[in-house]
Amino acid sequence: MSVQRLEEVRTAFLADIESAAGDADAVEQVRIRYAGRRSGLLNELTAVLRELPKEDKREYGQVLNGLKQEIEAKLQEAKKSAGTVIHAGSGKIKVTSHPTTVAVTQPEIDVTLPGLPVARGAQHPVHIVRRRIEEIFLRMGYDVEDGPEVEDDWHNFEALNIPPDHPARDDQDTFYLPGGHLLRTHTSPVQARVMERKQPPIRIIVPGRVYRRDSDLRHSPMFHQIEGLLVDEGITVAHLKATLESFLHALFSDDVEVRLRPGYFPFTEPSAEVDISCIFCDRKGCGVCSGSGWIEILGSGMVDPRVFEAVGIDSQRYTGFAFGLGLDRVAMLVYGIPDLRQLFAGDQRLTRQFQ
Ligand code: PHE
Repeated sequence: MSVQRLEEVRTAFLADIESAAGDADAVEQVRIRYAGRRSGLLNELTAVLRELPKEDKREYGQVLNGLKQEIEAKLQEAKKSAGTVIHAGSGKIKVTSHPTTVAVTQPEIDVTLPGLPVARGAQHPVHIVRRRIEEIFLRMGYDVEDGPEVEDDWHNFEALNIPPDHPARDDQDTFYLPGGHLLRTHTSPVQARVMERKQPPIRIIVPGRVYRRDSDLRHSPMFHQIEGLLVDEGITVAHLKATLESFLHALFSDDVEVRLRPGYFPFTEPSAEVDISCIFCDRKGCGVCSGSGWIEILGSGMVDPRVFEAVGIDSQRYTGFAFGLGLDRVAMLVYGIPDLRQLFAGDQRLTRQFQ
């Protein structure tokens, strides 16, 4: 297709330059359209070269060079006879001895020109997953909340029952900034922020970026989580389990089984790790689930009364549940992406698959 495209551009250029003949402004328009430094067609045609398979590069490159030279030469020629000379570095100077008025007015836009290719964008897989999860919770009446990525120690740790010497800080080593600030290690600080701001009933999810000092196939120093928090009178583990089941069925399929295992988080009591039956092998055991038949998908639990006290909510009157899940992990699972870091490499070969 590509060499043929060059030919089309050549034909169009010849027609344009011919109809611009004698009119310095029209010639300049043609120059900008084809050889303009920012958005001239030649730039785009040159960019195409990089994308071509090896075997096509040589021929395309040769034809392209020929075309460039031809366009340059014709433009110079047309400028001269239209009465404009280009002085290097000093813009254009009109030579007054050549009249530039022509009888026919040129159309501003030549609708017969081949169109400029417009690159089509794509949604990032993490973004797609985030939107799907938001939709599920919005249907259940949750609000979407937001919080700062640069946090203070109080919201990221202390209000969540993680005092300065607590061992849980070792798993959540992060990037510290001057003035006692840090890059948040999870979306849980937004729980504290929202509860400081308003009284129950509270029903929120919080998607966002989080940071940890971690980097391997399954960890990146920056990743994404989505937090959930529900606080009201009479909330029990039954509400937590039913909510997570409805959510995970909507996200994956009604066939997945959901399992709660005892877990530990300083800000929930009791806490539960939540697994789903492996969506790739249906619990038979495969590479993705390391032969176990189950995939760990989120952390959850009942809000610890100490968290309520820290943020000014009556822990005698209210109970609630919270959960947190890694959006990147879900994207990897759903789309079969083997290395988490590929999600953030900025390589269009990955994102283009989501057009
Ligand atoms: N914040 C926890 C983590 O990052 C996840 C979590 C959120 C656990 C809410 C329980 C309740 O590991």
